[in-house]
Amino acid sequence: MAERLRLGVNIDHVATLRNARGGAMPDPVRAAAVVSAAGADSVTAHLREDRRHISDEDIRRIRASGGLPLNLEMAATDEMVEIAVRTRPAHVCIVPERREELTTEGGLDAVGGEADLAPRVARLADAGIQVALFLDPDAAQVEAARRIGAGAIELHTGEYCNATGAAAGAELARLERAARLAAELGLECHAGHGLTLDNVGPVARIPQVVELNIGHALVAEAVFDGLAAAIRAMRMAMDRARGTVA
Ligand code: PXP
Repeated sequence: MAERLRLGVNIDHVATLRNARGGAMPDPVRAAAVVSAAGADSVTAHLREDRRHISDEDIRRIRASGGLPLNLEMAATDEMVEIAVRTRPAHVCIVPERREELTTEGGLDAVGGEADLAPRVARLADAGIQVALFLDPDAAQVEAARRIGAGAIELHTGEYCNATGAAAGAELARLERAARLAAELGLECHAGHGLTLDNVGPVARIPQVVELNIGHALVAEAVFDGLAAAIRAMRMAMDRARGTVA
């Protein structure tokens, strides 16, 4: 029997919704508890340099809540490395970051950034943190991750998710080749970005992939799964207050 694929749930967009009002709700720590109760394997959160969604305090509280292993997505900056070493998430995934982007738009340039990345990866690994590099499915990048000393890679599935028809097939083949190479080099292989119920199947079938990290589609779907129940609860609270319960 095939090994069960791990699921990391990215809760960034719970914080996006919270920050839209600047208050405390919805609370990412409550989301982390739901992620755990729903049977996921880890909680993923991206502490961006501009703190546009997840905050330092969210990270501290998620760790203090003692739930699922935390996978901290972060840029390879000195500030973030210090935060990770202090906070000790189980995993770090190093991602490229540009302030003007809406989301992480491409993989890390591990080839060009080898000299900068290697000492930072070593510092994180010395602190007992498993380090993954978020990469486009490109052989040269995967080989660089090995040289840099990362224990894992996460393959960027965005191009596959955005493609249609034959192009989607070609992108899937790139992911499959990169996953095979990662396994040959002894790197644990994760994948994520843009995955939905409709496109997850072929990626989930790649045997060398052991973990998927999924966020936006789950939070988007949760709005519709949860909205009716939230409306019914409010209706009930209003009717009880008025004494007009049916
Ligand atoms: N993996 C990485 C490294 C990411 O940066 C993101 C997006 O923050 C995801 C996975 C999840 O992508 P999505 O929100 O599109 O599911």
